[in-house]
Amino acid sequence: ARSTLTDRFGRTVNYVRLSVTDRCDFRCVYCMAEEMTFLPRQQVLSLEELARVARTFVDLGTEKIRLTGGEPLVRKGILDLVREIGSYGLRDFAMTTNGGKLTTMAEPLRQAGLKRLNISLDSLDPDKFLRITRTGKLQQVLDGIDAAKDAGFEGIKLNTVVMKGGNDEEVPELIEFARRKKVDITFIEEMPLGEISEHDRGEALCTSDEVREIIGRSHELIPTPEDSGGPARYFRMADSPVKVGFISPHSHNFCATCNRVRVTVEGRLLLCLGNEHSVDLRHVLRSHPENDDKLRETIISAMDLKPERHHFSSEGDVQILRFMNMTGG
Ligand code: GTP
Ligand code: 5AD
Ligand code: SF4
Repeated sequence: ARSTLTDRFGRTVNYVRLSVTDRCDFRCVYCMAEEMTFLPRQQVLSLEELARVARTFVDLGTEKIRLTGGEPLVRKGILDLVREIGSYGLRDFAMTTNGGKLTTMAEPLRQAGLKRLNISLDSLDPDKFLRITRTGKLQQVLDGIDAAKDAGFEGIKLNTVVMKGGNDEEVPELIEFARRKKVDITFIEEMPLGEISEHDRGEALCTSDEVREIIGRSHELIPTPEDSGGPARYFRMADSPVKVGFISPHSHNFCATCNRVRVTVEGRLLLCLGNEHSVDLRHVLRSHPENDDKLRETIISAMDLKPERHHFSSEGDVQILRFMNMTGG
């Protein structure tokens, strides 16, 4: 399909990440402060508004939609939204989840047309898992991963944010786990979004090169030419179908090939994760309830605001006050 959306730097935007709630049943230390207040309902896009946004992007050539949060599975009616978007015939339709509710939700999500799942997994040690997520139960997520496998998704990927002194020494076990379960795994450098006092992001930063070195001691990582168009660089291993990805906002800038925009749970169209430029789609949705012409126009002209790149500091200084749960990364 043609994509109508291009920016000033010649990049085509054909991928939208839609945050469906700011709420989450976990409180991961790198994502949220211990005490968070969540948005009042009126400020959050309704399911109908979310579907209008998704539909309009698809009309403009979007080929891939990913639902994020917060935790998308705590949003009431999420299956209805998945069913609706699932009917648009997208090349790719995915969700990023903490995995806590997949034991009951994996099968219905698949039935509703979701194709792929990314599941966060930072530790295989129940105590450490609890320390990082503050409220999460490891076993629940492990069972959720199995349920997702049984449901027959086209792809399942684990996401691990690697923190020095937090979970970095678990990298080899996480690799063995991914190999055993035959699911892909991506290691992520933490980004400084939202003011968080619990740990020092500068000190906790574990670069992808360091993670690769650790894995390299037991498995040769073979670069894949495959370009996802996304931030992850993927490797494979000689003796396994599992792919190992690295998302390295600090050590390997990927902005030149960026193909995505985000819509926050309040309906702000964000042109870049590491930047506050945004356009208020909620206002347009609510002042033009009858048709989506104005919405379409607003989205097209917003592309001019997409910045060339992000500028995250590796010292962990917060330049972006918005917490990660507003956009799901
Ligand atoms: P794809 O949709 O296949 O590209 O998956 P993904 O791995 O990008 O998505 P996921 O929601 O699993 O996010 C994993 C990590 O990638 C999170 O930490 C995101 O914040 C980060 N990420 C995704 N897109 C971008 C981006 O455009 N810029 C930056 N800096 N980070 C991103
Ligand atoms: N830096 C990098 N990744 C993060 N995530 C949440 N907060 C951050 C952060 N500050 C990850 C989660 C999840 C994905 C949506 O983003 O672990 O896998
Ligand atoms: Fe919830 Fe995901 Fe943030 Fe963890 S990273 S608190 S699971 S939204």
